[in-house]
Amino acid sequence: MVGLLDLVQKTMTTPHPLDRYLELVRPTLTRRSMRAKITHVRRSAVGSVTLTLEPARQWSGHVAGQYVQIGVVIDGVRHTRCYSPVNAEGRRDRHIELTVKAHPHGLVSNHLHENAIPGMVVDLEPAAGAFHLPEPRPEQIVLISGGSGITPVLSMLRTLADEGYRGRILFLHYNRSPEWVPHRQELEAIAMQHSNVRIEFRYPEAVRGQVWGGGALDSGPSGVGERSGGAEGGKNRDLGTANPPAAKRRANQAERDANFGYDELESLAPWFPSAQTYLCGPPGLMAAVRTVYEAEQLGDRLHSEEFTLTTAVVDPADAEGKVTFSDSGVVAENTGESLLEQAESAGLNPEYGCRMGICFSCTAVKRSGCTRNLRTGQLDSDPDQPIQICINAPVGDVDLAL
Ligand SMILES: Cc1cc2nc3c(=O)[nH]c(=O)nc-3n(C[C@H](O)[C@H](O)[C@H](O)COP(=O)(O)OP(=O)(O)OC[C@H]3O[C@@H](n4cnc5c(N)ncnc54)[C@H](O)[C@@H]3O)c2cc1C
Ligand code: FES
Repeated sequence: MVGLLDLVQKTMTTPHPLDRYLELVRPTLTRRSMRAKITHVRRSAVGSVTLTLEPARQWSGHVAGQYVQIGVVIDGVRHTRCYSPVNAEGRRDRHIELTVKAHPHGLVSNHLHENAIPGMVVDLEPAAGAFHLPEPRPEQIVLISGGSGITPVLSMLRTLADEGYRGRILFLHYNRSPEWVPHRQELEAIAMQHSNVRIEFRYPEAVRGQVWGGGALDSGPSGVGERSGGAEGGKNRDLGTANPPAAKRRANQAERDANFGYDELESLAPWFPSAQTYLCGPPGLMAAVRTVYEAEQLGDRLHSEEFTLTTAVVDPADAEGKVTFSDSGVVAENTGESLLEQAESAGLNPEYGCRMGICFSCTAVKRSGCTRNLRTGQLDSDPDQPIQICINAPVGDVDLAL
């Protein structure tokens, strides 16, 4: 079939590719790429927008926890970003729901927050990603999220609720205040309807200067709790040591920054060591949860998804050499950051999508020099290699075709 379409494309559709004619007939109809039409737009939580998308026929669904890439044209330029569908998997109408948090200076998130309307068409890539629930389902499940990280774990919760899952679930979500929590009322409804589901909201920023103040736990509707301020003061395991070793001090700091700790988790779900835990949120929360699980030797039971690349902070004094962006005639001192960040700091505007090594839209040819993959640590000194500049940093002099 594709061969026939190729022939039609070559012989009958000059001067434009076939997709250009097909999209005149129906905007979501293309031969090679997939599109989706926005059918509903909801701005019910502060700082985010929820879009319902009707994908083209090729859409084969997602598994709860996975992400999709969508392409949005802004001022004539197409930008790609990743979003994790927030709906349950296997939705009968095949629609996808995305909840997008507007970042203060974010291009695509703000564009969607401000301009998305029903009828708008976006490009859509098939769902991907290894962050999802296993089959068969674990016997007990902990879902932890912060901010926009709620999306993949809410998809998991909705899927489990639809399946009539009978095991215990703790859903623990951190946000600024109740108005910022997307799908909050639906979460409360799930807790009301499913006695095996406990839903807890935490608002660490809500009580200024009371990070360790131990705000009162308000029991909401059955199975729902929420607390402003931090975890209960001074109770975190090992915090009482007068002079804790450096590693422990760092761990405690991460827990304090995120207001998450062993005691909090143990009080909500004493069974958590035998559960599988799924985590998505800002770097501070992710670090704090990892610290607890590693200390308890439960690292293999913790599964996480990151929306941003977390790398060790580089001291510019340790970075050597110069980065040459040879197509632009720009040379800059190596700061040790990713090549994408260094290009942006040098005033260039390279294309990017995920900034995480997922989408390949930042790929550029390294003409010479050695680079280090920030995710794997692997070094590469082969010349004339295409590299993803969002996850590679120069080691010494590097020449990039940018
Ligand atoms: C697997 C995955 C799933 C995701 N799921 C969701 C989801 O469900 N919901 C959601 O809201 N988000 C999700 N995200 C995040 C989302 O993909 C976007 O990163 C987010 O919406 C911000 O995009 P933006 O275009 O608004 O921001 P961008 O314009 O890309 O900016 C983001 C940040 O990049 C930096 N930056 C950008 N341009 C420059 C520059 N010129 N110079 C220096 N720094 C710069 C800044 O720090 C800025 O704050 C997910 C990400 C991944 C990887
Ligand atoms: S921006 Fe997606 S791989 Fe680099």
